[in-house]
Amino acid sequence: MDYLQIKKASPLHGEIKISGAKNASLPLIAMAILAKNSVEIRNLPNVADIKTLLKLLSNLGAKCSSAWAENNNVTTIDTSSLTQTKATYDIVRTMRASILVLGPILARFGHCEVSLPGGCAIGQRPVDLHLKALEQMGAVINIEAGYIHAIAPNGLKGCDIIFDKITVTGTANIVMAAALADGITTITNAAREPEVVQLCEILNASGVQIDGIATAVLKIHGTNGRLLHIEPFSIIPDRIEAGTYLCAAAITRSELTLTDVNAGHLGAVISKLQEMGSKFTITDNTITIHPSEVIKPVKIVTQEYPAFPTDMQAQFLALATQADGTSIIEERLFENRFMHVSELQRMGANISLNGHVATINGGTKLSGTDVMATDLRASSALVLAALVADGITDVHRIYHLDRGYDSLEQKLQNVGADIKRLKE
Ligand code: EPZ
Repeated sequence: MDYLQIKKASPLHGEIKISGAKNASLPLIAMAILAKNSVEIRNLPNVADIKTLLKLLSNLGAKCSSAWAENNNVTTIDTSSLTQTKATYDIVRTMRASILVLGPILARFGHCEVSLPGGCAIGQRPVDLHLKALEQMGAVINIEAGYIHAIAPNGLKGCDIIFDKITVTGTANIVMAAALADGITTITNAAREPEVVQLCEILNASGVQIDGIATAVLKIHGTNGRLLHIEPFSIIPDRIEAGTYLCAAAITRSELTLTDVNAGHLGAVISKLQEMGSKFTITDNTITIHPSEVIKPVKIVTQEYPAFPTDMQAQFLALATQADGTSIIEERLFENRFMHVSELQRMGANISLNGHVATINGGTKLSGTDVMATDLRASSALVLAALVADGITDVHRIYHLDRGYDSLEQKLQNVGADIKRLKE
């Protein structure tokens, strides 16, 4: 297994190009199941989760070609030869977002079997809201031997759905199911994340009229089984990758410029960094951060978009260890998303946990040591801490990191960090 060896960084300098968003790519790849033509997707991030989902579609019989390095990470997906409708455990267990094929396959073929994704390190991650909505649309769903068996003998019918909780992939799954349904589906309490917005925009441009895009109430006019013609499109920038590098700049007191980024997707993140002392120069597709020498403490509560994103919680917790004072961070979405805390404590951080609330007494010097990544965003928090820790930090189990960060060590090396990937 690989690990990252990171030495304390002097201030970084230069530019980092932001890759396409992992969490936009996953539903948009699944969306290809609704197409009658071969779908060209550009600006895909070269990360493990994307390769896993492309492998799943290939296992189902789709033809996926990828040109990762040659021309801007383009893939084409032809699902005309897709014949299998069973997403097996071996793949789904490695990436729970595989659940995103359930809606499209059921909508197109009228039957689908998907292994229950199970939980993951950060929480139970149930899919009950996905299933309840599909049943409202006429699906018959049974769970047997760890698999979701779904059939829609009379096709899916548009209906009014109210999500008890805001669910990102739940909204994406139902939007895709509704795209081919007979009639209009209204989703109330829909997720408004930019990744869901792009999915709706692409479907809308492909003949599925969707009203209320980017709002909490979506109205999807189904095509009643008519497959879609989907023109080539490019994935939006990854706002979480961008936020992670902004935290890297803030924690090392470095002026960095991010390119190919959309500051409009980072409102809550930029606002919190401003509260902590950073200033920004922003253009249409760049963000330059001017960090402060003194980092002010902060109070953060994670909530659904456009509020502060849970996927940035770990990174800000690492940053808060260097603040001049005490910060409070409350995690409201997932039940076990503080696993980076124990590793940061081993580096010398002064953090106490009380249920879903972390209290971080800043101003502590961190010391490099061996640390272990436990989940995707926790991994990036450990990298940030390692950039300011005295000595050398070895971050192990970085397969977690490789799920969602494209070329992280190269991007940090390019701005002067002393970071290299080694073999255990
Ligand atoms: C998406 O996960 C993201 N993943 C996650 O990013 C992100 O943390 C999360 O949204 C919240 O923003 C992808 O988009 C692939 P949810 P998702 O359904 O859709 C509960 C990363 O680091 N819930 O919005 O699985 C659930 O338990 C990953 O890139 C139900 O109770 O999250 C959670 O408490 C990690 N029943 C809350 O809703 C359901 O049927 C939000 O979950 C579905 C969800």
